[in-house]
Amino acid sequence: MAATLESPKVTLTKNLINGEWCDADSGRTFEAFNPATGDVIAHVAEGEAGDIDRAVKSAREALENGPWSKFSARDRGRCLFKLADLVMQHADELAALEVLNNGKPIREVSFADVPLVAETFRYYGGWADKWTGDTIPVDRTLGNFFCYTKREPVGVCGQIIPWNFPMLMAAWKWGPALACGNTVVLKPAEQTPLTALKLAELATEAGFPPGVINVVNGFGELAGDALVKHPGVDKIGFTGEYKTAQIIMRNAADTLKRTSFELGGKSPAVVFADADLDEAVAGAMTGIFFNQGEVCCAGSRLFVEDSIHDEFLSRFKAAAESHKVGNPFDKSTQQGAQVSKEQYDKVLRYIDIGKNEDKATCVAGGAAHGDKGWFVKPTIFADVRNDMRIAQEEIFGPVASVLRFKDMNDVVKQANTTMYGLAAAVWTKDITKAFAIADGVRAGTVWVNCYNTFDPAAPFGGFKFSGSGRENGKDAMELYSEVKTVWVNLGER
Ligand code: NAI
Ligand code: MG
Repeated sequence: MAATLESPKVTLTKNLINGEWCDADSGRTFEAFNPATGDVIAHVAEGEAGDIDRAVKSAREALENGPWSKFSARDRGRCLFKLADLVMQHADELAALEVLNNGKPIREVSFADVPLVAETFRYYGGWADKWTGDTIPVDRTLGNFFCYTKREPVGVCGQIIPWNFPMLMAAWKWGPALACGNTVVLKPAEQTPLTALKLAELATEAGFPPGVINVVNGFGELAGDALVKHPGVDKIGFTGEYKTAQIIMRNAADTLKRTSFELGGKSPAVVFADADLDEAVAGAMTGIFFNQGEVCCAGSRLFVEDSIHDEFLSRFKAAAESHKVGNPFDKSTQQGAQVSKEQYDKVLRYIDIGKNEDKATCVAGGAAHGDKGWFVKPTIFADVRNDMRIAQEEIFGPVASVLRFKDMNDVVKQANTTMYGLAAAVWTKDITKAFAIADGVRAGTVWVNCYNTFDPAAPFGGFKFSGSGRENGKDAMELYSEVKTVWVNLGER
């Protein structure tokens, strides 16, 4: 059957090591699925410690001796610009592969994921030759010195990413790492290996020399673990669950690797009585149902002021019930399938906890959708208290909790009563209230009268258990470079 946008042909299933596509050393493969049908769509090379070792050595060689080591910063920028162009030239193919393997709607991938990937590469291409050091005015008591700083790459970067934005997470990791002159070994999520492989192929075409970008597929406990422990890796950049980050932090300690973490959330979205209710409902919808709720910064705890609670809830319920769930290749679909059977089961388990253990009131959804694939209905719980499990634990699915609040002190306190601190939002027309939330909530991003807006120039990351370090923006350049201070004795004259 010819490849179509609805059934893209999967051509890349091997690992990319030192510029060559290779099977796993063991010869083993694992299955990749289409979440909308549950069908197997590919058998992908299953890397382990040996494959990781070869990839790390190739990244080290490229860093120290390969052509990359002689690239000027501007040359690195040019490769990133070219990669951005190639992403847009292959936009349809990338979008179709992402939908096929992740289950998210084509409309969103084409509107958000693909252009953001290209913009991320372009943005960091721009940084490459503008990432300068300083001249430092040191004291003359000890002599006549010229002191300056320069930025050098951290080295070989191990990058471990999740399955909710497979392509975009690869771009967030590669953009700053490559702009700074590092080499990378990427370990995609085992659920969604396909688009990173396509991006790696495009990167080769864009002019990144062999060994600069390596991709090794496989499971976290084997390939991911080997990457974290490898003495030849200088830094680990990770996005995923905080429990995995804790393991990585411990394992990275022996070799004192640099680490940066972008983890989960239970983000509060606060709706004041003076808010534009239509906008607030639309924002709440985007906040929790975008990407099937598989979003680290999902607005999963909605705090609604007492006096408008019932009106808000009835409008939110109506919107959720008319949200179109189904075939992610259909352009009118608003919510696709959960990424895996495991995640689908987890979300349904939390819906059960909400109903039977927490005894909250399920006002919309509350069940699987259809009888094929891993779809869950947009679900809303009301009468939720902040100490319930559904208000504290990350569900990572289309499940909203609606809570009430009385006044500013009450809502700030409740909003901050969580282990997480990734994002927060507020809907109000009162600037004083907006700033009180923006200042009072401990979270890495605060959205005022909006939700889920992203730009490669705007830093993103978490307080508390939501991570450390910031991706995007200039901050990510800091994550991927070391500062070197040079003292030059000029002699007395
Ligand atoms: P995970 O954190 O285990 O997986 C993310 C990545 O880490 C994958 O590439 C995986 O192979 C790798 N990994 C797993 N164990 C590893 C280890 N011991 N050493 C090195 N790498 C390892 O997340 P998982 O299990 O897929 O999802 C569980 C929950 O985590 C989700 O239900 C969700 O609540 C949360 N999550 C949060 C994400 C976010 O964006 N903050 C993304 C994905 C999951
Ligand atoms: Mg896991």
